[in-house]
Amino acid sequence: MLLPEKFLTCVRCEDGLRREEGQTPVPGYGLSNAEVMLIGESPGAEEMKYARPFQGKAGENLNQFLAGVGLNRDQMYIANATRCRPYKEKETLLKNGTVRITKSNRPPSKHAVASCAAWLDMEIQLLAPKLIITLGSTPLKRLLGERSISEVHGNLLTVSIQRPETKEDSREFFWSDELYHVFPLYHPAAIIYRRELKEVFHEDMRKLRQTIEELKITSVIL
Ligand code: URA
Repeated sequence: MLLPEKFLTCVRCEDGLRREEGQTPVPGYGLSNAEVMLIGESPGAEEMKYARPFQGKAGENLNQFLAGVGLNRDQMYIANATRCRPYKEKETLLKNGTVRITKSNRPPSKHAVASCAAWLDMEIQLLAPKLIITLGSTPLKRLLGERSISEVHGNLLTVSIQRPETKEDSREFFWSDELYHVFPLYHPAAIIYRRELKEVFHEDMRKLRQTIEELKITSVIL
């Protein structure tokens, strides 16, 4: 855990304010000297329950994709662009007259991403990863602004990234002086509802493996 204690009580956005009793924001997880940082979108119900990113089905999926090209998740640091579950609620009136409320995931708002930016930034600064892998559009836009995933997926970018202003209540960004290696991938969940992305995603995973070899990041190779 690379983050300060006050992270655990963060209520800077609407999703933090709607956390369930007893739950905390989900910190990044992994080696504090990891060379590769992988950034997803937001925690879901399972992640909130265990306070770890990529648990349950989403975690299994990710492990399989990484292991499929000989990469080791345990040697990476894994985090999300936002740290509390963004959800919507649906009320259903049951036959017995009671109301059942069900929650389903939704993408985080821009406000939530900007509110959470300082936590991700702290982890990036402390870790200084040799390679950042973004999963889906949310972490890509968080780091690179208005870039389109369909244009950059599967390519190694050497770029400045957006860093949050240091004032606590600011949600503005500035561009880093340092350049970072960023490798954007589609979010693995996207290939479940967009079948046409399946082959593209597998090809991108192969390119990721090749990039890791070229950058000589041997720590994440199985
Ligand atoms: N679980 C996470 O922690 N992040 C995602 O982006 C999806 C599932």
